[in-house]
Amino acid sequence: MMHPALDLVVAALEKIRETSEHAPRASRRALAQLQFIAPGKREMLASVRERVRGCTKCAHLARSRTQTVFGVGSPNAEIMFIGEAPGADEDKQGEPFVGRAGQLLTKILKAMGFAREDVYIANILKCRPDMPVGSFGNRAPTPAEMQTCRPYLVEQIDIIHPKVLVALGAVAVEGLLGTRGTMRELRGRWHSYNETPLMITYHPAYLLRNQAPSEKRKVWEDMLQVLERLGKPISEKQRSFFT
Ligand code: URA
Repeated sequence: MMHPALDLVVAALEKIRETSEHAPRASRRALAQLQFIAPGKREMLASVRERVRGCTKCAHLARSRTQTVFGVGSPNAEIMFIGEAPGADEDKQGEPFVGRAGQLLTKILKAMGFAREDVYIANILKCRPDMPVGSFGNRAPTPAEMQTCRPYLVEQIDIIHPKVLVALGAVAVEGLLGTRGTMRELRGRWHSYNETPLMITYHPAYLLRNQAPSEKRKVWEDMLQVLERLGKPISEKQRSFFT
């Protein structure tokens, strides 16, 4: 991890570069030099990933998992999607959101104009919640499991520093903010996590269970708000999806 003081200096220099086309040449040179000695986001994420890989804080999950599921996407992503926990497919493949719900999330991203590599996708839990032997399906993470694993997600968010966070479902919200609520009251409006705008929407698994166009439209309207917040162009065709 980069020293916090160095972090501040890099942030300040980046601000100068962003806010002024005519940033003093010296500060641009200093930034280039600092970036040479300071680890980049990719390296910082790799170091957290290594700690996650060896994590045994939840002994029961460390025993039952095939592997940890850290996160996927661009370290420079403007949007970060946060789900609950890996399911059976993710546990097998080591990548978040690759099962049926994940394929739907990938379609939603595509409709927004993004590929999976353009955004960052992670979960509150990095291990699949264990299931009794011989049983199917997934279980929700417990509050204790979420509290134990949360610091890893916090590090991911701090490193990536996205412009917008999207929490998928009430469990992800509970894991991130520690507050419980119904999706009816939470979704469709801006919240905030450490001053980063946070949009809350339904988990794609909900859309698989409830195929009504009205529910798809709700998620889509939430994603339109995200695109607007990022200043992305939105076509008329995009605006009218699921109407
Ligand atoms: N559901 C989640 O919340 N996360 C995944 O990675 C897969 C399904």
